[in-house]
Amino acid sequence: MTQFLRNSGIAALMVLAAAAMLLAACGGADDQYGDDQAHDTDDAASAEVTTGELSEAALAGEKLFSANCSACHGTTANGTSQGPPLVHQIYEPSHHGNASFVIAVARGVRAHHWDFGNMPAVPSLEIEQIHQVICYIRELQLANGIIDDVPTSTPC
Ligand code: HEC
Repeated sequence: MTQFLRNSGIAALMVLAAAAMLLAACGGADDQYGDDQAHDTDDAASAEVTTGELSEAALAGEKLFSANCSACHGTTANGTSQGPPLVHQIYEPSHHGNASFVIAVARGVRAHHWDFGNMPAVPSLEIEQIHQVICYIRELQLANGIIDDVPTSTPC
């Protein structure tokens, strides 16, 4: 019983920690990339992005990204004058987990990291399609040394 209580306590703490990370990722008070230190758009000037080998899901994501996201985020998620690069340290999974991508697409984003303005929601994408787009971005992050592994929660 004690063991059980201890385990469930640890589980509850882990849930809390995960919730805190999500909050931090989306503009919580101690967000190190919060409003006070917003990156200006000059930082975003299209970085060189290498496209490595893409999985089937990421290839599908690439097409969806190109139709729905690249006008602002760049063809290889390298940024444009309308939106930030997603192949960027800020958008690695520990700071912007997959859930923050799903929320961004479903609800849009209030400008908080950069000076580009708000991102409108992209309601035409189904959840499976958003996951394919996430695969594309995570595999680009991998190919460009932002991450060492695609998170196991990403269905690629
Ligand atoms: C009309 C321009 C525009 C389009 C289209 C667009 N975005 Fe964005 N997006 C932005 C801007 C601008 C930001 C940065 C907001 C900020 O943090 O200042 C952003 C931020 C994001 C973020 C970070 C969210 C967060 O929690 O900080 C993600 C993830 C994202 N976009 C994904 C996408 C995906 C995927 C698509 C296509 C389905 C897409 N965007 C289409 C402009 C756009």
